[in-house]
Amino acid sequence: MLQTYLNEHKERFLNELFDLLRIPSVSADSKFKDDTRRTAGFVREKLTAAGLDNAELHETEGHPVVYAEKIVDESLPTVLVYGHYDVQPADPYELWISPPFEPTIRNERIYARGACDDKGQFYMHVKALEAMLATDGLPCNVKVMIEGEEEIGSEHLGKFVAENREKLKADVILISDTSIIANDVPSIESGLRGLSYVEVEVTGPNRDLHSGVYGGAVHNPVNVLCRMIASLIDEKGHITIPGFYDRVVELTAEERAELAKAPFDEEEYQRDLNLKAVFGEEGYSTPERASIRPTLDVNGIWGGYTGEGAKTVLPGKAHAKISMRLVPDQHPDDITELFSKHFQAIAPPTVTVKVTPHHGGEPYVTPTDSVEFEAARRAFREAWGKEPVPTRGGGSIPIVALFERELGIKSILMGFGLDIDALHSPNESYGLFNFYKGIETIPYFYKHYAELKKAPVEA
Ligand code: BES
Ligand code: MN
Ligand code: MN
Repeated sequence: MLQTYLNEHKERFLNELFDLLRIPSVSADSKFKDDTRRTAGFVREKLTAAGLDNAELHETEGHPVVYAEKIVDESLPTVLVYGHYDVQPADPYELWISPPFEPTIRNERIYARGACDDKGQFYMHVKALEAMLATDGLPCNVKVMIEGEEEIGSEHLGKFVAENREKLKADVILISDTSIIANDVPSIESGLRGLSYVEVEVTGPNRDLHSGVYGGAVHNPVNVLCRMIASLIDEKGHITIPGFYDRVVELTAEERAELAKAPFDEEEYQRDLNLKAVFGEEGYSTPERASIRPTLDVNGIWGGYTGEGAKTVLPGKAHAKISMRLVPDQHPDDITELFSKHFQAIAPPTVTVKVTPHHGGEPYVTPTDSVEFEAARRAFREAWGKEPVPTRGGGSIPIVALFERELGIKSILMGFGLDIDALHSPNESYGLFNFYKGIETIPYFYKHYAELKKAPVEA
């Protein structure tokens, strides 16, 4: 029986995840290139060991894609599982209580970079598939695709998907790379935000200057950049770039009321972040601001002297990295273009401005009345004994919109993380409860999906 199998192999599942977490697969940093490839090899091996066929590494111009499949019967529906084995850089290392690539358990949680995002989450699928194959078998065909460049924008995945349409043909994409509201409030995200990411450079004088000799007579690029950035958001939390909201789809009052049913405690939110007050776009609640509304945030800003002590300098250049989260129907290329034009337009004549686009991604929303969403709903109901709440997520998984466009397949975001998991932050963690509960929930998805596809009943 499946449940018995899961119980009997619990410890090994965790040990294997620990081995996976020990390999520093930081896709952004070329220092970890070999480790990243080693991680792909590890994943391929585990897919084979789980009983999948044709496990292979597909080379791309970047990090390889791992693919494996189990075709049990051509006439059955096919589930394509997507995940990513790469992780965000672990910096700053000194803020980690235990080292990022030495997984450690504290308070029933696994601490390591990638514990939740996404190693801990995609590995639940590998183990759920192993357990299904070792016991009752699979009620659907399955294809598994685990990539190594999600955290750097899945740059080479578009080409891979376009070149492997036949191989990737499936009826639904299943992804565990998002969060639930709380362990006693399971939820399913029905949308993701898109992303436009730019780097800006403001140049003033041809070199750093003595701030006493030149200060007051030469426009300081760091001062200029701060003023320009500050002007991008007004006091009502609105983004001031002309045309920025033109394609934003406003939700209806009913849709907003539906989303507002999800429990949210603003005081606890503030306490968790040690915030004196929240801030955001006027007219929207905190959960709305962080999911159905677009944003603009400076991710990093630098220039001049930032070392120890004081150096009197008027910098020659100033830089910033800026991300904009997008909602339907905004398009990352259009938004990047609008940003560039506006940023050039607001620059004073004393400086030159350069805008360099980085990766982006389109927003995504999936209907909640589909057979696949219903299958996820039933899986949660059965494994958690609770009705999952539909929510809209604030993060981005660029490949999801691309899957829909290239392959015409919808994605189900069946993630099991929590806000406290500290994704991308020091001391990232993942609850043991979530890891094991996820492994238990996934087989129910297959069961219900296969049943619903056989005889679609009313949701
Ligand atoms: N798993 C996250 C996205 C996420 C997290 C969605 C939590 C919903 C809830 C993913 O790995 C991620 O971090 N994506 C990046 C995208 C980027 C690097 C192109 C993001 O959202 O910043
Ligand atoms: Mn992720
Ligand atoms: Mn991430």
